[in-house]
Amino acid sequence: MADLSIQELERTAQSYQKLMVPALFKEWPDQILEAKIKPGDKLLDVACGTGVLTIAAEDRLDQKGFAAGLDMNPGMLAVAEKLAPDIEWRQGVAEDLPWDDESFDIVVSQFGLMFFEDQQKALREMFRVLKSGGRLVVAVFNSLENIRGYKIMTRIYGQVVGEEVEQALRFPFSLGDVDELKSLCFKSDLTGAKINTCEGNAKFPDIRTMVLADVKGWFPLAGFVLDDHQIEEAVRMAESELKGFIAEDGSVEFPLSAHIIYTTIK
Ligand SMILES: C[S@@+](CC[C@H](N)C(=O)[O-])C[C@H]1O[C@@H](n2cnc3c(N)ncnc32)[C@H](O)[C@@H]1O
Repeated sequence: MADLSIQELERTAQSYQKLMVPALFKEWPDQILEAKIKPGDKLLDVACGTGVLTIAAEDRLDQKGFAAGLDMNPGMLAVAEKLAPDIEWRQGVAEDLPWDDESFDIVVSQFGLMFFEDQQKALREMFRVLKSGGRLVVAVFNSLENIRGYKIMTRIYGQVVGEEVEQALRFPFSLGDVDELKSLCFKSDLTGAKINTCEGNAKFPDIRTMVLADVKGWFPLAGFVLDDHQIEEAVRMAESELKGFIAEDGSVEFPLSAHIIYTTIK
């Protein structure tokens, strides 16, 4: 994560919440939580961001239930705290969870695992904090080869900004190969893990919003700043190259699939 002030982190997280969450992240909690969460559960969401999954989970819990969200980025947590002050939000890293062994009935995580420095350690940590009989559900995006909209955008940013942005954009899709994902689960001692590929859609109101979601919602975290000319060029190229995904009203929609890992602890 680039070295930004808390104000800059929070501003970026606000853009993430406004531009990226409705377009990319809001539809997944139903598929992730479906049939896995019970009303009295103690639940942990790892790499919770602004809390879209944590908040959806908390809505399904009763008085006995409890939800906590952890993220390394204090800007994300500041936005989450304003959205749902009753949830326990903690700053920390997935590789070293600040909870005792066997603290939770269910641990969930959506679209964070790809970014963890030590993915095996993080998965072992998620297991450690689960009680016996506990459930682990982790979602990662499919590979870029299977998500045409972002494959095209990655190339466009590469041309407009440079190779470093193209490389960074590949990162969120880096666990898309199911065989590699199975091998990661195996190496992390998640031997009974099942992986389901689920279909979803990216939906933006227009191409400009889609580009601004990247430019304002996460590029600053990676240290990328685009000038107005680069933004206009990315919008112009995307309007032409994503034409097949643009409806008459200007809205953009393209398939975005994810792999969901599910396992229980004995
Ligand atoms: C793409 S966002 C997903 C956030 C959220 N789960 C959602 O669906 O909106 C990835 C998140 O992972 C967090 N993250 C990355 N590495 C982390 C780590 N090692 N420990 C905790 N959080 C991490 C980032 O700060 C970011 O909020």
